Amino acid sequence: MSEFVRPSVKTAIPGEKSRLIVEKDDNYMITATKVFPIAIKKGKGIVLEDEDGNVFYDFTSGVGVCNTGHCHPKVVKAIKDQAEKLIHFAGTDYYYEPQAVLMERLAKLAPGPNKKRVFFTNSGTESVEAAIKLARYKTKRPQFLAFTGAFHGRTMGSLSLTSSRAVHKEGFQPTMPGVEHVPYAYCYRCPYNLEYPTCNMECVKYIEETVMKKLLSPNDVAAFFCEPIQGEGGYIVPPKEFLPMIKKLCEKYGILYVSDEVQAGFGRTGKFFACENFDVVPDIITCAKGMGSGMPIGCIIIDEKLNYPHKGCHSNTFGGNPVCCEAGNATLDVIEEENLLENAKNIGDFMHEGLKDIQKRHPLVGDVRGIGLMQAIEIVKDPKTKEIDPQSRDQICEEMLKLGLVTLDCGVSSIRFIPPLVITKKEMEVGLEIIEKAVAKVEKN
Ligand SMILES: Cc1ncc(COP(=O)(O)O)c(C=O)c1O
Repeated sequence: MSEFVRPSVKTAIPGEKSRLIVEKDDNYMITATKVFPIAIKKGKGIVLEDEDGNVFYDFTSGVGVCNTGHCHPKVVKAIKDQAEKLIHFAGTDYYYEPQAVLMERLAKLAPGPNKKRVFFTNSGTESVEAAIKLARYKTKRPQFLAFTGAFHGRTMGSLSLTSSRAVHKEGFQPTMPGVEHVPYAYCYRCPYNLEYPTCNMECVKYIEETVMKKLLSPNDVAAFFCEPIQGEGGYIVPPKEFLPMIKKLCEKYGILYVSDEVQAGFGRTGKFFACENFDVVPDIITCAKGMGSGMPIGCIIIDEKLNYPHKGCHSNTFGGNPVCCEAGNATLDVIEEENLLENAKNIGDFMHEGLKDIQKRHPLVGDVRGIGLMQAIEIVKDPKTKEIDPQSRDQICEEMLKLGLVTLDCGVSSIRFIPPLVITKKEMEVGLEIIEKAVAKVEKN
């Protein structure tokens, strides 16, 4: 466990000096979504230090990646040791131990009784592309289902499944044809204006009774892409029956159920895979982000029955390179040895309760939702009308940064909190204090 450090922002505006680094550089493509003008120099556990000597708590985990904390010594050692032995040798073409070991461990961790197989990728979007191709290949069906508000990546196939912000697709159409979107179970703003549980899960009924009868035949659908908790779309936790009902629908019509665990997997929710919170056994799991503690590695884990019939159907050059695989093995070691699943559950529950208390004291906080260390608040103008308030949301994020907490938005009017899973209760108490101070300050204005 790293030594306790408090955030401390010395510059009048965080990033005051590093702003120069950022703004002088005209080499970035403007599309880079730089959230705050801070230039991070180093990180340890949940603590970040910027070029100006400001100290922050990272409540983003580098967008859901550094689940074991920044520069965990075991991960650093594994990377260094492997880099001295073998950096690359085309993992889909040849064998080497770090890859074989990681593959076996992941296959064992995946839920369900059937044997699993693993294919390594370099990112979340590449995992989703691999799942799209495999689903088409195996089912010989042309279409896909995904949810409104979903985020599955930004390459052409995954982009067609993504529907969290129109800007992602603007100017890039047409994307891959054959994708239909259906509403997610966003109970705080039910798309059918109903209330759980008296709604009788209208959101699932609509898919079977309307979409599958009037819009597209389920017999044409290869796969249904599901985020167990909708991430970029607003950290939306569906009611417990939702995903099992979607899985049943998939089984009924021979549709493959893909659990996109790129953001919610690798212990984030207190279970290794987030689908385990809902007792769903997917046909395909897509992973990346938390898998290599910051090294670029992802994978799909598939049911044995979906294996390709012969070599070369799908491949890549860098997938599962030895250094990334050793970072992955060290990540699994740290998760096991430091009981990070338990910590994510305990500190996550503590955070959830803390956020609920803040909600009681501050009407700007309309909703609190999340599982484990995947938590969010939705900011509204009035808790009764639930009118969204993205402007106050952005101001709260800025205030939190000034007080030393780095966070990220999500959805239309929400803020997500995804600190590394190594966070302690004391650090979380400091985080909650900062969140409340920032909310109070914006509320007063
Ligand atoms: C659920 C989900 N799937 C896929 C992706 C795409 O991952 P990447 O940015 O590594 O391509 C993301 C990224 O945020 C994600 O949250």
